[in-house]
Amino acid sequence: MHWTERRDLYPQGVASGDPDAHSVILWTRRPFAQGTRQLLTVEVSEDDAFRRVIAHAQAPVSSAADWTTRVLIAGLEPARTYWYRFTDSDGNGSRVGRTITAPLPNDPRTVNFAFVSCQDVNEGKLNAYRRMIYEDERAPAAQQLDFVLHLGDFIYEVVEYPDEVKTRYDRTIYEVARIPDGHKVGNFHIPLTVEGYRLIYKGYLVDPDLQDARARWPFVCIWDNHEFSWQGWQSTVKAGKFEQPAPSIKIAANQAWFEYLPARVAPPSGSLDQFGPPAVQDGVPITEFDGNGLGMEPNNLTAIHSLKAYRTLRYGRNLDLIVTDQHSYRSADCFSDPSLGKLGGEEFIAMFPEALMRVLDGGRACNGGNPPAEIRFNDAHVPNPRRNEPPQTILGAEQKAWFKEKLRSSTAAWKIWANSQGTLDQRADPQNLPPGLTKEPWPADGGYAAMSGGDYGSAFMERAEIYQLVRDAKVSGFAIVSGDLHSFWAGYAAAELPPGKFDPVGLSFVGASLISPGAMEAQEHNLPKDAPLRPLFLADRPAGAAGAAGPPDWTHNMLLRHGVRACLEYAKSFDLERARSLSNPDLAPHLEFVDMGGHGYAKVRLSADEMRTEFVCIPRPIARSERPDGGPLRYRVLHTAALWKSGERPRLKTAVLEGDPGLSI
Ligand SMILES: [Fe+2]
Repeated sequence: MHWTERRDLYPQGVASGDPDAHSVILWTRRPFAQGTRQLLTVEVSEDDAFRRVIAHAQAPVSSAADWTTRVLIAGLEPARTYWYRFTDSDGNGSRVGRTITAPLPNDPRTVNFAFVSCQDVNEGKLNAYRRMIYEDERAPAAQQLDFVLHLGDFIYEVVEYPDEVKTRYDRTIYEVARIPDGHKVGNFHIPLTVEGYRLIYKGYLVDPDLQDARARWPFVCIWDNHEFSWQGWQSTVKAGKFEQPAPSIKIAANQAWFEYLPARVAPPSGSLDQFGPPAVQDGVPITEFDGNGLGMEPNNLTAIHSLKAYRTLRYGRNLDLIVTDQHSYRSADCFSDPSLGKLGGEEFIAMFPEALMRVLDGGRACNGGNPPAEIRFNDAHVPNPRRNEPPQTILGAEQKAWFKEKLRSSTAAWKIWANSQGTLDQRADPQNLPPGLTKEPWPADGGYAAMSGGDYGSAFMERAEIYQLVRDAKVSGFAIVSGDLHSFWAGYAAAELPPGKFDPVGLSFVGASLISPGAMEAQEHNLPKDAPLRPLFLADRPAGAAGAAGPPDWTHNMLLRHGVRACLEYAKSFDLERARSLSNPDLAPHLEFVDMGGHGYAKVRLSADEMRTEFVCIPRPIARSERPDGGPLRYRVLHTAALWKSGERPRLKTAVLEGDPGLSI
């Protein structure tokens, strides 16, 4: 058919999503100035010149779906590359996209995918996608990516305007969108209706690197927090002091996600054409919760059930990808009761006793159903705010039951949990600090400090329940890939760390942000020079004879892997060997690698007997690289694990292939 490429008429490009062995969803957006509905045609071809077109389909676009379309193309061959393009009735065509179907369930071939997260184009550029494309185009066929797994923060609903905010940390603020219906919290404009969320997706998708990535590979997406609300949970919006039940906003976020990210999900309308948002009433307080912290208020339930995003994808004999939703069903933040602000001392940056975090996590189920009446930190004490509350859940009861069943019944060699949030403990050993460094000492009975709250690194009880299932059901090849933390982590899925029994049941990885600033960038800007514990995060090199000192070394990485003694030695002598000789072996047997300052992406290759996970780290992506390869690398690190038998412990081998990962090992 007649087709003339007119990219200007398809300003958000093309995309494909959620392939199986015989079908895939194709996507584009073609806005029209007049009318409410038009029909496009989509063609699917075995070659990129469209000489062997094997399918034509109608692709309706309508103003009700913001002129987006999703078409499920079936009857495809497994493990095949196809090209597709959309055309309107005047012959105006989209760019050409490429997609790849999954192999048949019994196919033994190697599976390759990348996992990514956190692409805040408000604060940087997507050089990582440029690098990913450049390398993939040059890779041998058996090592090219089959799909990209996007683990969330595809958009950030907290939008900054460059005329209001010029910079943040090291970043230039770039124009993304203007939110007509927004609420302002600090410098952030946040959407309150579907139009606002749509404008953000549209603003993100004009990025040329993101468009090229979506045109090259099928994407599998799950939202993290920022597709709806920064600190939100269920259908409650929360951004700093702005917090309210907001079922219509949750539905708006789900609708825009459905419209812009093609996925095998069922919207309320029952049709891929348009979402069909259910009617809800806003502002009804949520006062009743079931035994799993699920708010029973009917508008809340309507909102969170308006789109079920948890699902599985099968790739040959080697991969079952189990994708879960960490925000729609989770209980309220159990670590943020205002009374707890009195505890923890002033100087222990982000550290809180792990034992107390376990009390808050467990609620009324803590300590075998006997929660302590009080929470103490040295002489300060407050009533335990979680004494009568249900234990924290991230998955919610219904999704958790589904997830466990999927784990139990999987027949693939590797069961990969695509979980937007990290699962690895972030802890430190302030009990080993020399006396007198801080004004108030770490409590004598304080033990290890937990340094996270809100992800699976501190969802101790639910995490243990899942890992116990993996153990009991003799699930082998269990590995977790996640995002959210804006940092690279490689290690083991373990419910307990010393002095508890360290007994890993799988592997766990966190991929760094594509763009969004991480902890090191924040600390370089925010951590006072005279903070007594500064050496645990940043080691400032003395100025040399030549003048100014270089940037500080990131001892935060060493803190999490080796502990406070190693950090204090390193910040004094910069002698890596001497510092590592002071490593606390009980602190982090679950970690092989951590880089709190990394950006980039991770690549996974799965075969019948091995999982290879490569971290591709780029410098802080502040400006767009003009190089065809997306700019230089900081490092490339490979983590390899042989498939273990159920009951054996998994073992990772880490090798630096290129560059210098600093204090990450
Ligand atoms: Fe993020």
